[in-house]
Amino acid sequence: MDQAAVLREIKEGKRSMRSGSKTKREVRVIAITSGKGGVGKTNIAANLGFLLAQMGKKVLVLDADMGLANLDVVLGLTPRFNLSHVLYGEKSLAETVVKGPGGMLVLPASSGIQELAEMTGTQKTILIDEMSAFGSDMDFLLIDTSAGISSNVMYFNAASREIIVVVTPEPTSLTDAYALMKVLYQKHDRKRFRLLVNMARGAGEAKAVYHRLSVALGHFLRIGIEYLGFIPEDEKMAEAVRCQKPVAVLWPSSPASVSFKAIAKTLAEEEVEYEGGGIKFFWESIGLR
Ligand SMILES: Nc1ncnc2c1ncn2[C@@H]1O[C@H](COP(=O)(O)OP(=O)(O)O)[C@@H](O)[C@H]1O
Ligand SMILES: [Mg+2]
Repeated sequence: MDQAAVLREIKEGKRSMRSGSKTKREVRVIAITSGKGGVGKTNIAANLGFLLAQMGKKVLVLDADMGLANLDVVLGLTPRFNLSHVLYGEKSLAETVVKGPGGMLVLPASSGIQELAEMTGTQKTILIDEMSAFGSDMDFLLIDTSAGISSNVMYFNAASREIIVVVTPEPTSLTDAYALMKVLYQKHDRKRFRLLVNMARGAGEAKAVYHRLSVALGHFLRIGIEYLGFIPEDEKMAEAVRCQKPVAVLWPSSPASVSFKAIAKTLAEEEVEYEGGGIKFFWESIGLR
């Protein structure tokens, strides 16, 4: 194909400027996870989803906390349908997804949905087919997982190309995060983790938390973790939850919002290469492993 034909295709939107070649860009599939509950995963997913969407990215946030699904509540959404309607073949994914702040898309879960490990073959097929088609149009798929080391958490983390582990400076949050990464490493061969320290009193405390965990993981498991950043303890966070809107929407210059912006910028601007597909790998792993 000559260059003029390529340019024509770009103009007509058939070819992405970014990829430039026939290889399709990959959707970034990022799990936001933790060992301990209540460390801020849902608020982090909501704020990063909003900010990435505001930067012009196509974002789908999946509420994968099937025990305590509450992403819709944090975002002030009242979805009519959720993942369980998709799994029972009652609704398509396009009918289930709802639009949140900034144009981010949200796939709501329902509390008390069965473990993925217990899904029937038909349900797995529905999930893979529906999600692969819909998700491949996105730039980012963020997955708000539940806490701990249940089979659902393992599935979603093992299937995600990138894993962000959220901790707070509390010692129990660190021991639980260590246990989570140990299982993901030993059972699912995951070695790359990024640490996000939430509710820190400042950069110094956050770095110290990272250092402690990093030393323990390096020493006992020989895995290295990367420091993604920190979100300060910010009273506006709880107020934002009460208002059912991301803090970055309500108070864009609050300390937490400023940190969220820096992290969203890092994620949006970095070049990441996946081997063997992002979205396809994700849904196939969810269904078949
Ligand atoms: N940086 C922060 N500063 C103050 N409070 C926070 C911060 N991050 C989260 N919170 C509070 O912690 C609570 C739990 O957050 P949530 O996102 O639901 O955690 P998880 O999804 O990990 O269970 C929320 O009520 C929220 O207001
Ligand atoms: Mg949550």
